[in-house]
Amino acid sequence: MKISIIGTGYVGSVSAACFAELGHEVICVDIDKSKIDMINAGIPPIYEEGLPELLEKHAGKRLSATSDYELAIMNSDVSFICVGTPSDSEGNIDLGIVRAASASLGDSLRKKKGYHVIVVKSTVVPETTEKIVLPIIEKHSGKHPGEFGIAMNPEFLREGKAVHDFMHPDKIVIGSLDKKSGDIVASLYNGLKCEVTRTNPRTAEMIKYVNNAFLATKISFSNEVGNICKLLGIDTYEVMSAVGKDFRIGPYFLNSGAGFGGSCFPKDVKALIGKAKEIGYEPRLLKSVIAINEGQPARMVLLLKNKLGSLEGKNIAVLGLAFKNDTDDIRESRSIPVIKELLDEGARVSAYDPMANENMKKLFSGIGYYSSAADALSGAEACLIMTEWDEFKSLNKEFDAMENRLVIDGRHILVKPGKDIEYVGLCW
Ligand code: UGA
Repeated sequence: MKISIIGTGYVGSVSAACFAELGHEVICVDIDKSKIDMINAGIPPIYEEGLPELLEKHAGKRLSATSDYELAIMNSDVSFICVGTPSDSEGNIDLGIVRAASASLGDSLRKKKGYHVIVVKSTVVPETTEKIVLPIIEKHSGKHPGEFGIAMNPEFLREGKAVHDFMHPDKIVIGSLDKKSGDIVASLYNGLKCEVTRTNPRTAEMIKYVNNAFLATKISFSNEVGNICKLLGIDTYEVMSAVGKDFRIGPYFLNSGAGFGGSCFPKDVKALIGKAKEIGYEPRLLKSVIAINEGQPARMVLLLKNKLGSLEGKNIAVLGLAFKNDTDDIRESRSIPVIKELLDEGARVSAYDPMANENMKKLFSGIGYYSSAADALSGAEACLIMTEWDEFKSLNKEFDAMENRLVIDGRHILVKPGKDIEYVGLCW
């Protein structure tokens, strides 16, 4: 089938490459000329495992990119809206880009003869597809459902593992207003071994939010338990590893520490809170999930101050700047509030991340950036571990170059910290 993908962020570019891999002809649309040029040259606009290979294989053949909406709509049967849905200043969802994309799609649809399905893949709060996207498309195209199809098909792609997750899904959810549009979207996934859940658009939208909110809740729950364990002198990792053996709970997303970051969990939980409030419900549990998460970085700095006293003029190494391992993405990284607080306390910061130094420089230009953990640790009076990078697991003799060998681990990552180290876990 012929597919157009609107927006070439990590969801758009990964979906485009994977649909091409499944045998479809794909046209990407973006207003950013540099991204279009990169895709056409077979170069990923973002870092994502497995994407370079797929783009190299399909660019110029089954995969192309353009800034011309009309060209893309005329030459495809299905369009996926994959644009960003950032938060506004209150934490509520900002649908500005979704509205603009819907309007452009509608304008192009006006000129198109034949059936076309529009699918929302962007993460949008329940009712958005039916109450915002659909009316905009109707207004701009002059057509009504039946003359075109409309569906909502959320993504469940982890950053860094998005290609793998697309090709090996544990669920495919398709919400459509009518059977015909849903059938067409479902057929695009033929070839993947996965049950397809068919529902209406608002349920599909809700499934996406509940999935992320539940995972975030598991983490905040684990952090609350971890904070209590820490005060009781209990190793929370021993506790959660036993608790996770209950098949109803499962062993995943129970790692306590510095909390969750990234472009999804914080934003999506806040957006769901915003939607709940808009319809007159006070979501107390979800608000606590955010509050606990926001408290964890401060607990790192508090532990540090309890050990070192005033941080004025002290050299603190921060290992890990990305919001998680295997990415250069620093959005909502837990290292950001930690570095901010360290600087507010008058500390000097020596930072290192295997991939994210350059991105963090745009946010904090005045701190020291190093090209290895050993260099960042040299002369430091304490070290804070903020990201679960594999290479931090084996750190040991690198700590010898510290002025004072205090290590506060926010990710339970160090395997053998070494005998001469004062090793402090955030929640254990
Ligand atoms: C998340 C979901 O896992 C994906 O299923 C979803 O599709 C995606 O959001 C999205 O909505 O697009 P992602 O943001 O890439 O994916 O990151 P995760 O791997 O889920 O990790 C999120 C954060 O939670 C990281 O900061 C990580 O350090 C933290 N985390 C994770 C914990 O603190 N403890 C854990 O046990 C697990």
